[in-house]
Amino acid sequence: MNISKNDIKTLIPQAELEAKIKEMAAEISKRHEGEELHLICILKGGAYFMTELSKYITVPVTIDFMSASSYGSGTTSSGVVKINKDLDEPIEGKHVIVVEDIIDTGYTLSYLLNFLKDRKPASLELCAILNKPSRRIVDVHIDYYGFDVPDKFIVGFGLDADQKFRNLPYIGYIET
Ligand code: IMP
Ligand code: MG
Repeated sequence: MNISKNDIKTLIPQAELEAKIKEMAAEISKRHEGEELHLICILKGGAYFMTELSKYITVPVTIDFMSASSYGSGTTSSGVVKINKDLDEPIEGKHVIVVEDIIDTGYTLSYLLNFLKDRKPASLELCAILNKPSRRIVDVHIDYYGFDVPDKFIVGFGLDADQKFRNLPYIGYIET
């Protein structure tokens, strides 16, 4: 299917998204007052969110990136996750926040959080701009999230359809 921009309906306008990100950054800064934070962006979807979020965090921040892929669909997946790119820096003793675009089935993040926990960070939290609770298979605790979204195919602000539309400055869904 060749999707065009006309097939995308706005779900969360840019201004709402920006306001929410500032709120989230304020909450993170408050909870971590007096600490240094290490943000881990899950590529590629988390990239837009992490860069925006980090600009408004007021405690000292360092960043790193990792990439993983989850095999199988929600109905058939065994939850097998492959690490395509590991972190550049150790996380032992650091206050880590994993920054992701959306938590859907929960497979990817429950795997990654366990994987990172073994490296003994001082604390480990999860922050996602979107949450799609209707699709959850594995229980994952999300420490900070922006919006609940319906069970639709979401694009924009990092989320893609076949690698496209990540650069939309708002969150939309594909009308099917
Ligand atoms: P999970 O393991 O099912 O929670 O997978 C989450 C990942 O699937 C996210 O990081 C996204 O990359 C991708 N994903 C889940 N739902 C959507 C969607 O509606 N649009 C685009 N990507 C999605
Ligand atoms: Mg992703």
